[in-house]
Amino acid sequence: MLKNLQTGPSLRIGVLGGGQLGLMMIQSAINLDLRVEVMDPSNQAPCARLTHRFVQGDLNNVESVYQFGKDLDVVTIEIEHVSVEGLRKLEQSGVKVVPKPDHIAIIQDKGLQKQFFKDNQIPTSDFILIESGGDISSLGLPIVQKLRTGGYDGRGVQILKTTNDILERGFVEASVLEKAVDIDKELGVIVARNASGKTSIFPVVESVFDPKVNLVSSLISPANIDVDTAAKAQKLALSVVEAMDFEGLMAVELFLDADGNLLVNEVAPRTHNSGHHTIEANRTSQFDQHLRAVVGIPFGDVSLLHNAAGMMNLLGSADAFGAPVYDGLSEALSMPGVHPHLYGKSEVKPYRKMGHITVTGSDMNFVQEKLLKLRDSLCVNGSKKK
Ligand SMILES: Nc1ncnc2c1ncn2[C@@H]1O[C@H](COP(=O)(O)OP(=O)(O)O)[C@@H](O)[C@H]1O
Ligand SMILES: [Mg+2]
Repeated sequence: MLKNLQTGPSLRIGVLGGGQLGLMMIQSAINLDLRVEVMDPSNQAPCARLTHRFVQGDLNNVESVYQFGKDLDVVTIEIEHVSVEGLRKLEQSGVKVVPKPDHIAIIQDKGLQKQFFKDNQIPTSDFILIESGGDISSLGLPIVQKLRTGGYDGRGVQILKTTNDILERGFVEASVLEKAVDIDKELGVIVARNASGKTSIFPVVESVFDPKVNLVSSLISPANIDVDTAAKAQKLALSVVEAMDFEGLMAVELFLDADGNLLVNEVAPRTHNSGHHTIEANRTSQFDQHLRAVVGIPFGDVSLLHNAAGMMNLLGSADAFGAPVYDGLSEALSMPGVHPHLYGKSEVKPYRKMGHITVTGSDMNFVQEKLLKLRDSLCVNGSKKK
């Protein structure tokens, strides 16, 4: 049983994963004197030098997850690729686990996730599940093939336009095959839900993808959509957490198609890249809200602090290796409304997420102008080239 609304050293919170999401969670935790302990496979992880206790360990190993968490009050995640068995074992031994291991198990597998949407009448693109290759053209072409497990950040997802593509590039592994949606906009809604069923929904954001790297490269908040569509997107996100009886914070990715329909693409059971701007742009950030859900304390107001906000990831340049060099950072620092976040990673690699920049302003033109300027002037190079 979780101790009643406590902060400070007597409440022990464990986080599986010590990357940038964990780092920003620690920033939030400090304000409430919540003390976070972290496990990550790398002792170079951004959280390693910032946490009350750092354990280097395999997140996918039952025993290491169990040993890390067994004396803690509550364990949460900043990445969903963790040992669900380890989390179940923790739960059985009386440790509170948020989100629930069964929900993480569904979300880890893109196939189970799609099936969950379908079984719960949550609109999503048509799909079939396949075990391996074979005839994968029954949905027509083009199709999007996604590995059920093992993909991350755009890896493991591919569009197949022709029969030849299927033959040459089709994954011969358990996959989801989805009808390709004619996407007008990619939207995101973050929603938090606590053990007593209270919910908090963030305003809708819009992602802009860079097709070259298939990682979200910039995002605007609020999304440029009408109020009805925004309300529908929020309602859909809420319906996912309600259908699952989810506890914690969930990021819901949606497509608005060319006919104006909203479809749920996928969800993440944790804080998300699409919510980084909430640190400066909303009254309560996704990291604050996640911790509040985990600890069981009242949610904060998530309304917007600025008329417009934008966020771009700072990715390593195509040929960057070695120690990171942030070219153009001093210009960015001197621009009004520009808020850099560097994740403290000791090594840069091509397209590695090294940080992000949030821009806030009184109108979207100002924000987009600044984002374009930053895109041209700022880059993360390395001390070595390949
Ligand atoms: N059914 C689909 N139709 C069209 N584009 C899609 C479809 N599914 C995914 N995509 C595109 O691929 C991107 C990555 O897919 P996603 O399922 O979000 O996987 P991940 O984020 O794990 O890489 C999406 O953001 C979208 O741009
Ligand atoms: Mg995605």
